[in-house]
Amino acid sequence: MEKTDMLPHKAEILQIKQETETNLNIKTFRIQFQDSGVRENFNFKPGQFMMVTVYGVGEAPFGFSSSPTEKDYIEFSVKEVGLVTEALHNLKEGDEIGIRGPFGNGFPLESTENKNIIFIGGGIGLAPLRSLINYVLDENNRDKYKKVQLLNAFRSPEDTLFCDDYEWWENSKDTLVKYTIDEPCEGWSKCVGYPHTLIEDELDYNLPDTRVFTCGPPIMIKFITERLQELGIEPEEIITTLEMKMSCGVGKCGRCNIGHYYVCKDGPVFTLDQLREMPDEY
Ligand SMILES: Cc1cc2nc3c(=O)[nH]c(=O)nc-3n(C[C@H](O)[C@H](O)[C@H](O)COP(=O)(O)OP(=O)(O)OC[C@H]3O[C@@H](n4cnc5c(N)ncnc54)[C@H](O)[C@@H]3O)c2cc1C
Ligand code: FES
Repeated sequence: MEKTDMLPHKAEILQIKQETETNLNIKTFRIQFQDSGVRENFNFKPGQFMMVTVYGVGEAPFGFSSSPTEKDYIEFSVKEVGLVTEALHNLKEGDEIGIRGPFGNGFPLESTENKNIIFIGGGIGLAPLRSLINYVLDENNRDKYKKVQLLNAFRSPEDTLFCDDYEWWENSKDTLVKYTIDEPCEGWSKCVGYPHTLIEDELDYNLPDTRVFTCGPPIMIKFITERLQELGIEPEEIITTLEMKMSCGVGKCGRCNIGHYYVCKDGPVFTLDQLREMPDEY
C-alpha cells in the first residue's frame, strides 16, 4: 500500500449531507480521489484517520465515517468548531480538498471476531463508530461477529446523525439498536437519558465475550467507562478513541503526545487499560 504521509492527494467532494439542523452543525462529506491509482490503493481500517486540507486555510484530522467495504467513495463527518471545520462547511460539491493518510492504529478487527459487540456513540463520536458498525454489519463480515448492539446518544431528535443507516442497522441479523436523547420531548418514543444510565435496562451487557466500543464527549466516556466496569466488563474490552490536537499525523512533531504515547501513531484507538496508564491530559 502506498501511503500519502506528507503530501496531500487531491480529492473531489462528491456529496455533502447536512446531518443536523441545530447549533451542533455537522455535515458528512463524501469524497473520491482524483487520481485513479490513489483511489485503488488507498486502504484504511475503521478507527484510523486522515489529515484533510482546505487549500488556503489549513489542515485538520478527521476519522473515517464510512466503512472500507465501500469501495466507490470515502466519507468523513465534521462538526463545525473553528477555522478549518468552518472552511470545510463552506465548501460545495465539486470542490477540491487534500488528503494525507490513512494514519493511526484503527480498531482491533481480528481480535474482535467471535465476540459480542456493544457500540455506544455520543453525538459526533458516532462518526468513527459508524465506520466499524458498517464494516461489521457488511454481509461479507457479519458472520464473524456475534450479537451486535448499538446505543446511540444525541442531545435532541434534531441532533440525530446517519438516519439513512437506521433501517439497515435495525434489520441486520442479531442486532439491537437503541437511541436516546438527553431530555424528554414531544413525539420522541425511544429512550431518554444519558447512555450510562441505560446500559443495564436497554442492552444485554452481560453476554460472555463482550467488547464495547465507545466514542463521544470526554464526560460521556468518563461515565460510560465507570458504569461498564461496575457492570463487570474488563478494561481491556472497553475501547475508545482520543482526539488530540495534531500537526504531522505521523509521530514526528510531538504535538499529540500524552506520556510516552503519540496519539497519532500509537492511537487514536486505546483500551481503557492503556488510558489508565496515561497522565490525565486528554
Ligand atoms: C484522530 C482524530 C479524529 C477526529 N475525527 C473527527 C471527526 O470525525 N469529526 C469531527 O468533527 N472532528 C474530528 N476530530 C476533531 C477535529 O480534528 C477538530 O475539530 C478540528 O481539528 C478543529 O479544527 P478547526 O481549525 O476547525 O478548529 P480550531 O480553530 O483549531 O479550534 C476551534 C476549537 O476546537 C478545538 N480543537 C481544535 N482541534 C481539536 C482537536 N483535534 N480535538 C479537539 N478539539 C480541538 C480548539 O481547542 C478550539 O476550542 C478528530 C480529531 C482527531 C485527532
Ligand atoms: S501529530 Fe505530530 S507527533 Fe502526533
